[in-house]
Amino acid sequence: MSDSSTGAPKALTYGRYLCIDELLALQRPRSEGPEHDELLFIVIHQVYELWFKELLHEIDFVRQLLAEDATHRAQHTLKRILTILKVAVGQIDILETMTPLEFQSFRARLEAASGFQSDQFRQIEFVLGLKNTAAIERFPEDSRARQALQQRYHEPTLWDSFLHYLSREGYAVPDALLAREVTTPIEASPDLQRVLVELYRRDTKNAELCERLVDLDEGMQEWRYRHVKMVERTIGVKPGTGGSAGAAYLRGTLGQPLFPDLWAIRSQL
Ligand code: HEM
Repeated sequence: MSDSSTGAPKALTYGRYLCIDELLALQRPRSEGPEHDELLFIVIHQVYELWFKELLHEIDFVRQLLAEDATHRAQHTLKRILTILKVAVGQIDILETMTPLEFQSFRARLEAASGFQSDQFRQIEFVLGLKNTAAIERFPEDSRARQALQQRYHEPTLWDSFLHYLSREGYAVPDALLAREVTTPIEASPDLQRVLVELYRRDTKNAELCERLVDLDEGMQEWRYRHVKMVERTIGVKPGTGGSAGAAYLRGTLGQPLFPDLWAIRSQL
């Protein structure tokens, strides 16, 4: 960018580096007035989408670090991911200061829009092993969202990267798991659990890595729980704007671990 009068390059400023003018123009309430609480609702969702972007960036990095056998850096990056997840869960506290009537004041303006349509949330689910083709097909052909989801659908999950890493660390990960079809759900494996129990008893470094994956799994479950509670207190049993049964649908997603083997071994230790 240059100064139009002199042609000299413009000095970089905070505003230009971070595109602040563009950023501040992106909050566009739809309610008349507009209703006071709609700005909060928009800002929170936009901040979530930025954290989702950063989470995907960091999860991809962990997969790369595991492929390079860089255990400590992978652990360090997982710690960053967990810290972001805590902030993301904590943001629900802010939105819970909005009462049912305050939300009601602009809810109709959301039409059929819903967090259900967040492709980045689905991308996070995909990379963590929760893949389904219906989530891809909801997005128009050739859209950024559909292309991103299609690519992640065929990519190995974080769990696959971890299994291959463990195998290179000398653990007898069953061949069937190393060759598994990465688009299918992650299922519990008693053979792998036997390997993991031995690992927990003898190998502190890799047991710590496993614990960080459990933290991530628990963190995602915590977000789901806090989200459904926020939904229950804000709209009760009303259906969602995205067309689902609302809280009843969301409750069905609770308590499902991402990495079932890491939970199963707890009772064997
Ligand atoms: C007043 C606040 C909120 C209410 C009442 C609410 C309500 C709902 C409802 C009812 C659903 C089910 C789908 C549907 O039929 O619409 C849903 C899904 C979802 N919402 Fe929210 N939501 C709120 C805030 C948020 C925030 C701040 C986020 C952050 C991005 C978010 C992200 C999501 C996601 C990712 C789903 C899909 C979950 C899944 O399919 O497992 N929601 N929400």
